[in-house]
Order: sequence, then structure tokens, then C-alpha cells
Amino acid sequence: TASRPLVAGNWKMNGLKAAAAEFGRMVEGYGPEMRKKVELAVCPPATLLYTLSVMAIGSRIAVGGQDCAVAAAGAHTGDLSAEMLADAGAAYVIVGHSERRTDHGESDGLVRAKAQAVLRAGLTPIVCIGETEAERRNNETLAIVERQLAGSLPDGVGPEDLVVAYEPVWAIGTGLTPSSDDIAEVHAHITGRLFARFGEPGERIRILYGGSVKPANAKEILGIPHVSGALVGGASLKAADFLSIAAAY
Ligand code: G3H
Repeated sequence: TASRPLVAGNWKMNGLKAAAAEFGRMVEGYGPEMRKKVELAVCPPATLLYTLSVMAIGSRIAVGGQDCAVAAAGAHTGDLSAEMLADAGAAYVIVGHSERRTDHGESDGLVRAKAQAVLRAGLTPIVCIGETEAERRNNETLAIVERQLAGSLPDGVGPEDLVVAYEPVWAIGTGLTPSSDDIAEVHAHITGRLFARFGEPGERIRILYGGSVKPANAKEILGIPHVSGALVGGASLKAADFLSIAAAY
């Protein structure tokens, strides 16, 4: 439920069948004590989604997709709908990841349509936003994040419906992270915008931080006000690292 923080792993385009064994170690390591404190989710490539969702039965690790189409079905060769991801066992779908925005030119409007598709399928979108290095340098971070939020989030959502992930593009896969003060500033700003748009429930929408989260910095980052979890890329591929990040709670 939305009251616990969420640590979500994004495997990106990594993971063949053998990676299921790593997921098995995550399932084993996610014991009752950890479950009380933190929710875990893993978003594998879609080829592994069903396999992992079957392995996750009973463990309460959620699985999720990394993207989806806007339409529910039809003539869209190569695309996967949110309904298909739901059918394969997904509970979450990441939308608007910066790699999608960059590699596939996804606009805020498209990301919003995808988030709506995820809601239509009964799943929870994890909507990603974040500034580039140049935007950070030009002191545009808060303005960019605000514009992306306004354009990418569907109307009428609350803390049970949707998760926001703040991922500075320059921190993804680079080993660089903003200072804790900078993360705190952006998360407080996002919280303020969510309150302005959705009222009091908006303030309880979980806001994950993403970008080079690893066991060594998890405790500090996850302790920052208004950070209600992490979206973890590289460090989510190994069960030991992923569980050690979750253990920061
Ligand atoms: O979705 C995850 C992020 O892009 C973060 O990736 O942890 O490898 O920096 P990273």
C-alpha cells in the first residue's frame, strides 16, 4: 500500500532467463521484517515479466513493466499494452523514463497518455521526471520538474494511484548524485506542486529518488525529507545490492 516507502528496481534492457535466479534470491531475502517497512518492486524486461510474477507469488515483491503503449490492443506491431502487462502479472508500470524520453522522443503529453493507460488497466504508473545536466547548470531544475509534472501526470489521482520518480538525467548510471540538500529541495518542490494540484492527498503521493542509488548512499538518500523510496537501475540487478538498499529502512 501507499503508506510504506517503495524501492523499485528497473532492470532496463538487462536480464536473460538466467537472471530469474537473481530474482529468486530477492524473493528469499525479502523477509517479514523488511516487508513491514518497505515495499519492493522489480521491473524486468517484458520477456521475463510473467516468469518473475509467478516466482513472486506469496513473496509480495511486486513486478512491473518499464513502458507501455497507449492503446489497449490493436494494430501496433511491437508494442505492449498496459492490459498485457497486467495479464503477465505486473502491478506497476514505469512511464516517461528519461531513456524513453530521449531514445524515443516521448513528450509529456505522451507520458500522460501512457500513465492514463496504466490506470485504465488497474495498475500503478511510476511517472519519471528530471532535469538534464545543462538544465541543472542553468538553474532550471525546479522549472523543468514543474513543467514535466504538469504535463505528464493525469488528473484526479491520489497516493494509491500513482508514484512519481525524480531522476536527474545526469545522475542516471553515472555514479553522480545531487547533494542531499539539492534532492531535498526538489522533492519539497514536487510535494508542493502535488499539493497545489491534488490537495491534501496529493501530498501523500510517493516520490522516489532515482539516479546512482547504491548500498553505500541508500541510507542518506532514503532519509531525506519527502523521499519516499528509490528507483534503482544498475544496483537492482544483484539481489545483494538491491536488498541492502531496501535494508536502509
Ligand atoms: O530507473 C532507474 C534509473 O534510471 C537509475 O539508474 O541506478 O543505474 O543510475 P541507475
